[in-house]
Amino acid sequence: MTAQGKVILETHGLTKRFGGLVAVDHVDFKLEEGELRAIIGPNGAGKSTFLNLISGRLKPTEGKVIFKGEDITGLPCHEITRKGIALSLQLVNIFPELTVFENIWIGAQMRFKHRNPFVKAETPAPIRAKVEEICKMVGLYDKMDEVASNLSHGDQKLLDIGIALSTEPSLLLLDEPLAGLSRKEFAELTEVIRELSKSKTIILIEHNIDAVLKLARKITVLDRGKVIAEGSPVEISENVKVQEVYLGRRR
Ligand SMILES: Nc1ncnc2c1ncn2[C@@H]1O[C@H](COP(=O)(O)OP(=O)(O)OP(=O)(O)O)[C@@H](O)[C@H]1O
Ligand SMILES: [Mg+2]
Repeated sequence: MTAQGKVILETHGLTKRFGGLVAVDHVDFKLEEGELRAIIGPNGAGKSTFLNLISGRLKPTEGKVIFKGEDITGLPCHEITRKGIALSLQLVNIFPELTVFENIWIGAQMRFKHRNPFVKAETPAPIRAKVEEICKMVGLYDKMDEVASNLSHGDQKLLDIGIALSTEPSLLLLDEPLAGLSRKEFAELTEVIRELSKSKTIILIEHNIDAVLKLARKITVLDRGKVIAEGSPVEISENVKVQEVYLGRRR
């Protein structure tokens, strides 16, 4: 278990403009180590942009991102990954022609190589063990040798999260991981996320309110780039502003 109460991530006045559009508008955000925070909000609220700013895929127009007390604003993506933040995108992002094992191995060996540039090209035991551990974490241990393109959509999403885990992040950013899954896949992935949240800090963007209420103890609501509410599931579901802008337009 990670320590509760210590701030792992904060943003100060974080802003992203696309031309005249302010997608993320002066967001002040704080996340404690060990938290599973849900971010909800209507389409176009700026949720994905917010995660892209944290992970370095986009550079902010204004404001700061502080991770573990260090200013990481504007650093390139790979450096932010190395510091311990991983992002799983809204769309599945895997190498379809490689196996489950190979997909996860790519990230895992980069991590090891970084520590020891003389690691040989074959799969040394510690990397194999790491890959197997990740496959277990995402429930794909029995499918390690399957080619990714042959997996069901739900298993591809699990693999996508496995790839994010391969860089050993302490903060995992999940952008709508449950979207488009069957009821069974949805239940499986919800359980995987719940298990992961015991050892990782997680930000979860999710439209399905039932899943959010099941997983998160604290919810942040974005609308038109601004945080309009933050609190427990009960506080959020009773918040009139939230009902107006989000629940009223629920998909
Ligand atoms: N690269 C871009 N260039 C221009 N505008 C963009 C870009 N990315 C996002 N936007 C705009 O910024 C706003 C916020 O988009 P964003 O994708 O962050 O919303 P979201 O909350 O993730 O929505 P959804 O629930 O549909 O995924 C939208 O109006 C979107 O059209
Ligand atoms: Mg989005």
